Amino acid sequence: MNSAEVLNLEIKDLTELPKAAQSLLDFADQRKIFLFYAPMGAGKTTLIKEMCKLLGSDDHFSSPTYSIINEYKRDGSSLYHFDLYRLKNAGELLDLGVEDYFDGQRYCFIEWPEFAEPFLDDNCVKIEISIKENIRYIRASVF
Ligand SMILES: Nc1ncnc2c1ncn2[C@@H]1O[C@H](COP(=O)(O)OP(=O)(O)OP(=O)(O)O)[C@@H](O)[C@H]1O
Ligand SMILES: [Mg+2]
Repeated sequence: MNSAEVLNLEIKDLTELPKAAQSLLDFADQRKIFLFYAPMGAGKTTLIKEMCKLLGSDDHFSSPTYSIINEYKRDGSSLYHFDLYRLKNAGELLDLGVEDYFDGQRYCFIEWPEFAEPFLDDNCVKIEISIKENIRYIRASVF
């Protein structure tokens, strides 16, 4: 297990994104569930896309219509990207069967994760993004 409890990164432009995404995956170590806390437009989807690419997903990333769960294929398994922005309550997550997704064995990347919190144990990586003067400050910690 990674002994570091917190990782702080700065991204000045998109060229620095792959390195930051790799650092976050390294920080996560065995953990596979990532929660993204950041304002609208901060770059959550962009970062998730990069992390999934590094994990070997193929490029069927953007879906034409909004969906709560997007599944990305990689060799022999899947990555799951959740966007819970339009969710109205935690009950809707139960209807989607999230307890199966959140078993810790599968990679899950969750935007707007507040409603998912009741279903998660403490083995997740929390990623916060803030922006000041075009620099994105990323703070990763163990949930
Ligand atoms: N590290 C970065 N440097 C520069 N621009 C970025 C970076 N990350 C994202 N962007 C740009 O910011 C915009 C919003 O990014 P993105 O859709 O990933 O944000 P989001 O946090 O997922 O938004 P939402 O809250 O709507 O889901 C995009 O145009 C993207 O190209
Ligand atoms: Mg997004």
